[in-house]
Amino acid sequence: MTKLKGKVAVITGANSGIGLATAKLFAKEGARVVITGRREDALLQAAAEIEGEVLPVLADAGKIDDIRKVISTTVAKFGNIDILFPNAGIAPFQSVEQTSEELFDEVIGINLKGPFFLVKEALPYLNKEGVVVFNTTIAQTKGFAHTGAYVASKAGLRSLVRILTTELKEKGIRAVAVSPGPIDTPIYGKLGKSEEEVQQMETAFAAQVPLGRFGSADEVAKTVLFLASSEASFVNGAELVVDGGLSMV
Ligand SMILES: NC(=O)c1ccc[n+]([C@@H]2O[C@H](COP(=O)([O-])OP(=O)(O)OC[C@H]3O[C@@H](n4cnc5c(N)ncnc54)[C@H](OP(=O)(O)O)[C@@H]3O)[C@@H](O)[C@H]2O)c1
Repeated sequence: MTKLKGKVAVITGANSGIGLATAKLFAKEGARVVITGRREDALLQAAAEIEGEVLPVLADAGKIDDIRKVISTTVAKFGNIDILFPNAGIAPFQSVEQTSEELFDEVIGINLKGPFFLVKEALPYLNKEGVVVFNTTIAQTKGFAHTGAYVASKAGLRSLVRILTTELKEKGIRAVAVSPGPIDTPIYGKLGKSEEEVQQMETAFAAQVPLGRFGSADEVAKTVLFLASSEASFVNGAELVVDGGLSMV
């Protein structure tokens, strides 16, 4: 278990779901892991669950000052950075008609502006042959109702991957994305819907997936590990889909 031995990885939004599963796996593979979250209790609880070297940093993923703190704290403790996984995200599903300016700004701020400036702030400290892995969604290739602001933010990340392959080429830094389909994480409980509504939505989603189920956070984490490791050393600019086939039908 040494695929990331000695590497320094920064993972935002790692107190639950895909971020936490990835942090656990990275640490198991020998990485020194910096995890961020906006809720101190949840962040410290997550840090306690990770076996290995972990540095929790309390930070809002959409706030520039907090993003700077994440990078400066990481550099002070570990030196340079090898892997950046701007994973923190929110998915408040609303139709375009229902979406307020405040909600739009919040979604874009956390899901797109945050990752953009995390990369910008990290750039001087990203090691040669480092890697940035964005977390997009297969929804940006579909026309699912009620995903407008969310999908706009993730489509922005997809485009950013392409730009970074060119802008980061001098240092041999790769830029890639993992694109999950429906994954069983706490995010669906944060939509402001009743448990019953969430259950109905999940059942309907699962029925559309060729494999007939939600994916797990661990299944996405394994894909992020592949993308971040030297096994993917010639994978650049790509978005790797982990969706049980949903985007193909
Ligand atoms: N689950 C899916 O079906 C799915 C599909 C495609 C893409 N994704 C993407 O996967 C990523 C992770 O989501 P998940 O499914 O693992 O859900 P999750 O368990 O809710 O994880 C999201 C993480 O981001 C954190 N976060 C949200 N806003 C933040 C902010 N302003 N500052 C700091 N942390 C913040 C959350 O913290 P709190 O606990 O404080 O909210 C949580 O730790 C997201 O970018 C999501 O869009 C998920």
